Amino acid sequence: MEFSKSLIQWYLQNKRDLPWRKTIAPYQIWLSEIMLQQTRVAQGTPYFLKFIEAFPTVNDMAAAPEEQVLKLWQGLGYYSRARNLHATAKQVAFEMGGEFPDSYQGLLQLKGVGDYTAAAIASIAYGEPVPVVDGNVYRVLARYFGIETDISSSGAKKQFTEVAATLLPKGRASEFNQAMMEFGALQCVPKNPDCSICIFNAECAAFLTGRVNQLPVKLKK
Ligand code: ADE
Repeated sequence: MEFSKSLIQWYLQNKRDLPWRKTIAPYQIWLSEIMLQQTRVAQGTPYFLKFIEAFPTVNDMAAAPEEQVLKLWQGLGYYSRARNLHATAKQVAFEMGGEFPDSYQGLLQLKGVGDYTAAAIASIAYGEPVPVVDGNVYRVLARYFGIETDISSSGAKKQFTEVAATLLPKGRASEFNQAMMEFGALQCVPKNPDCSICIFNAECAAFLTGRVNQLPVKLKK
């Protein structure tokens, strides 16, 4: 079976039951992706639930005073994210009638929404065929294909985005992108992954050449 099919099959059998996976509402997908940018799932999950309870819609968040948003954010760190979050909520509520832009290109116009977040929302909420590329994706692709490109180099993002785009199965962008994230988080972990139980151990370039702990290459810290 080819890579994407096997990966999605693995995902369907191994995915964690996470609260933002019960919805395809762009507001909730956006909130979860902003929270998870510099935060682990275990730490972010109670905050996600707390925010959805306090602000069931983007209009509720927009109507709240910034200090309430910052207060709920306390403990997550990187407070500029919380200020950006509130500014974006106001942008969507007051300039866009409470509706998130309905495409990758439109989402990029939002404050604090870059390539990664726009691709995550567009694929998960709208099924748009755009690949997400984050640290998990770099690691999985670099190892599986034996890609030696320095991921801190200027051309890395474009190269890995192109590889991910060619793998993205038609009509299954949401599952594929979440499968890449989950596989990187649970199986193809940064340090000493347990390759003995990996579904790809007969074909992974890094495993077959003993370079799992050398890939991905990251020269500058
Ligand atoms: N990390 C970033 N986005 C995520 C998601 N949607 N699910 C799990 N972990 C993530």
